[in-house]
Amino acid sequence: MKLMVIGGGGREHAIIKKLKENPNVTEIFALPGNGGIAADATCVSIGAKDIDGAVAFAKENAIDFAVVAPDDPLVLGMSDALQDAGIPTFGPRACAAIIEGSKVFSKELMKKYNIPTAAYEVFEDADAALEYVRTAPLPTVIKADGLALGKGVIIAQTREEAEDAIRSIMEDKVFGASGSRIVIEEFLTGPEVSVLSFTDGKTVIPMISSMDHKRAHDGDEGPNTGGMGTIAPNPYYTEDIAKVCMDTIFRPTVDAMNAEGRTFRGCLYFGLMLTPCGPKVIEYNCRFGDPETQVVLPLLKTDLLTVMMATANGTLDQLKVEFSNRSACCVIIASKGYPVSYQSGYPMVLPPDSEDAFTYVAGAKRAEDGSLLSAGGRVLGVTAVADTLPLAIERAYAHAEGVVFENGFCRRDIGQKALKA
Ligand code: AMP
Ligand code: GLY
Repeated sequence: MKLMVIGGGGREHAIIKKLKENPNVTEIFALPGNGGIAADATCVSIGAKDIDGAVAFAKENAIDFAVVAPDDPLVLGMSDALQDAGIPTFGPRACAAIIEGSKVFSKELMKKYNIPTAAYEVFEDADAALEYVRTAPLPTVIKADGLALGKGVIIAQTREEAEDAIRSIMEDKVFGASGSRIVIEEFLTGPEVSVLSFTDGKTVIPMISSMDHKRAHDGDEGPNTGGMGTIAPNPYYTEDIAKVCMDTIFRPTVDAMNAEGRTFRGCLYFGLMLTPCGPKVIEYNCRFGDPETQVVLPLLKTDLLTVMMATANGTLDQLKVEFSNRSACCVIIASKGYPVSYQSGYPMVLPPDSEDAFTYVAGAKRAEDGSLLSAGGRVLGVTAVADTLPLAIERAYAHAEGVVFENGFCRRDIGQKALKA
């Protein structure tokens, strides 16, 4: 089988490595992939948002199955275009991807179907929003409606910060059109859990839980990033909590999307906060999380391609999806200065992968002599699997010691919060 994976980050590298385990897979194309993914797939220089390019490539190369991994192409309708061209595809249609593409949509969905989430107000007008935060309880949470590279959420501790956030999103348009509307919501507290799930619109199968570390620096200090590391499973997510989430969040969300005529088929990501009043939804994503995927997929025992095809075909009810009872840890090595400003083009040497410790490449290109150069903010995801979480953390950091990348930095405390659970 010939496969095509849209995207070019660490998540896509993890998906490609897992898909390769299926013996029927003869070739995988990555659009566009990256210099590290090139070791595992044929990289094609078609951008992840180039829908016409991807459809033409899939037809010319008789692609048997496509996977659309990132949010932008999904929200733009990449899955619709591929499916309409007769290419079986994993990833929701645009009408369902809106669950991530618009925070206003997702908040209204949750309100309408009684799915627990933070209380909120929507504003289309900066003056009304400014007026509202004059008396809103602090801290308050301000979110741009649309996609913003995971940076569209501001937790304002003071009224001044809230006003600055509203002005920069709605007036200075720092996130472009994504900031035409904003959501201002109640600040919630509690441990955060990421739960990715496979759903074909009928069956919903949660994957093993994980925990992201979104802030740039140790001790959850510094600016929000796309994610600086992950562990799985998340020890805060007990079996009892999983059951509550299935009954009050997962199943109701899938049903709600059906009721809205927006059946979701693909990976539905639940970003949850375990508040003192029970689990609540912080955000939905219409795709695999990055870097959650890097710890979830190494623990998946069932063949990924089989699960993805069943998700696309609507036959998930016939599958048993199993995860190992081991633990995983992924430490992101980012370019110094990320997420604010950073430089690319630094040479890198990676330690050889072993069965239990390996590197997913998120941002790299190949120099003419074939050597690897850093490219982008998040560059590497050094990942390890072990029988226990402390061992997985130790093994990931030990493997990271073997990475040569002068301009890189990583958090030293990935997994420490989980160990306190
Ligand atoms: P998001 O981009 O929606 O994942 O939000 C980024 C981060 O902001 C989340 O992972 C949370 O840590 C935090 N956050 C978002 N919404 C809230 C909220 N209502 N209360 C507290 N923290 C929040
Ligand atoms: N790691 C969070 C996300 O993928 O949005």
